[in-house]
Amino acid sequence: MASNSMVLFLLFISFSVLSVTSFEFQVGDTNGWVVPPSNDSKIYNDWASENRFQVGDTIHFKYKKDSVMEVTESDYKKCNSTHPNFFSNTGDTLFKLDRSGPFYFISGASGHCSRGQKMILKVMSDEDSQSGGGSRSSGSAAVAVMLCGGVVAPLAFSYMF
Ligand SMILES: *[C@@H]1O[C@H](CO)[C@@H](O)[C@H](O)[C@H]1NC(C)=O
Ligand SMILES: *[C@@H]1O[C@H](CO)[C@@H](O)[C@H](O)[C@H]1NC(C)=O
Repeated sequence: MASNSMVLFLLFISFSVLSVTSFEFQVGDTNGWVVPPSNDSKIYNDWASENRFQVGDTIHFKYKKDSVMEVTESDYKKCNSTHPNFFSNTGDTLFKLDRSGPFYFISGASGHCSRGQKMILKVMSDEDSQSGGGSRSSGSAAVAVMLCGGVVAPLAFSYMF
């Protein structure tokens, strides 16, 4: 039927778009980049492990009176903020994940890193993403829904999961 082939065509287009699109992730979702509550100090590593990052994706830090640093693994472990690879304190920082492998982020504000405002994020290599099957986390499902509209969304979900 015409409408069915139209749906399939739209799905095909959406997935073609998805395979080349880079994503922007909101660090910490609605919490933004803050000192975590003391009973839940792993929020950023939990957040990072729930998402699948690929080279070319961007992460977005939103914060007030704070800063973001990208540091080495040993500086991450020690919360050493004296010589970051990257520093921003604009309150609204976009960081592009330009290679695969781990990235280490800490807050540069005094005491914040040791209270848990830090994050390890792993960017998949091309091999990881090819062997990892098609599904690209909740982020791509959300995009698929936006691209396809309400009617196609259930199909998109059943296709992906
Ligand atoms: C942390 O404490 C707050 C307030 O006491 C509580 O609402 C929240 O559920 C706790 N979170 C965890 C992960 O225990
Ligand atoms: C942080 O790193 C610098 C350079 O490696 C070092 O000189 C300094 O002692 C370190 N600070 C802490 C608190 O470990």
